Amino acid sequence: MYKRICVIEGDGIGPEVMAQAIKVLNTIAKKFNHNFEYVYRLAGGVAIDKTGKCLPNETLDSVLETDSTLLGAVGGNKWDNQPPENRPEKALLGIRKAMQVYANLRPQKLYAELDSPLKAEYVGDGIDIMIVRELVSGVYFGEHIQSIEDNQNVATDIMKYTESEISRVAKVAFELAKQRTGNLILVDKANVLATSKLWRKVVIDMSKDYPDVNLEFMYVDNCAMQLIKKPSKIDTILTENMFGDILSDEASSLIGSIGMSGSASLGDGTRGFYEAIHGSAPDIAGKDIANPIGMILSSSMMLRLSFGMTEEADCIDKAINQFIKSGYRTADIMQDGKKLVKCSEVGNLICGFIG
Ligand code: IPM
Ligand code: MG
Repeated sequence: MYKRICVIEGDGIGPEVMAQAIKVLNTIAKKFNHNFEYVYRLAGGVAIDKTGKCLPNETLDSVLETDSTLLGAVGGNKWDNQPPENRPEKALLGIRKAMQVYANLRPQKLYAELDSPLKAEYVGDGIDIMIVRELVSGVYFGEHIQSIEDNQNVATDIMKYTESEISRVAKVAFELAKQRTGNLILVDKANVLATSKLWRKVVIDMSKDYPDVNLEFMYVDNCAMQLIKKPSKIDTILTENMFGDILSDEASSLIGSIGMSGSASLGDGTRGFYEAIHGSAPDIAGKDIANPIGMILSSSMMLRLSFGMTEEADCIDKAINQFIKSGYRTADIMQDGKKLVKCSEVGNLICGFIG
């Protein structure tokens, strides 16, 4: 199969982790006789430095015209003084919005060989959580207003959701929950927020079409606690944009490192946007110690969810398992007696397991 992939390395550790994912994709292309063409584009801080704009038009055109996009990470203190509309993060939000990738899948799985920072009694039977985060609406995309009232500065951020914005992402979550254990939790703050009340109404109405999915509700503050106390009891979470941002960082630290989390952002078609969720980590950039597994997992999700390449994605996931089983560790997941490897070695080792 011939596929064109837009590759946005971005800032900080972005280029390092991306290089490993590309090695893995090239090995898969060779093994399965595919032709992947990479269209490298700029976004984030590096784009500001080179073009003055965090999201150049050329990049926007490419993400809308290629078969899918991979993104490393954007951001860093260097660009803190940019005006709000030209911050590196705006590039990310701009791409998500332009692609209309409203469903952000953030799986959080604890590999049996790795340590969770939680005590064993809390980890219970293990952690395997799928967070479905709404990605293109809510308070992130509502109006952000600065004003003066009664002689003082006032700031307002609008959180707004429409029924259709809720139902389209809820459908993705119901379908996923059905394929998984059949348990779906809607996480909200329906005891306070009007948007949350609407989420409940829409999701309850839809649940009639999914008799095989057991739907539960949890307030977001309680969910933050249950993720620590009983993560093994949580399967699929559906939630709005900002709650999903916060809970997915929390959940990713339960599986040992945020570097182990990949993600997929999907809209109506097959085209997707795939990013590791770890961010640019400027403190470790250029040291060759980052963990590229999140990025490699994101690439595997791209093959599976956007290109329908199930066997190829399985092959990558198995190779990652073998890498871990063989005792290789990057610094963030290092354990006594294991083999510490550099970021640049990870791709080669995983390619070796792909065979
Ligand atoms: C994420 C990040 C972004 C978000 C930031 C960089 C805008 O935290 O992908 O989780 O909040 O969506
Ligand atoms: Mg985040």
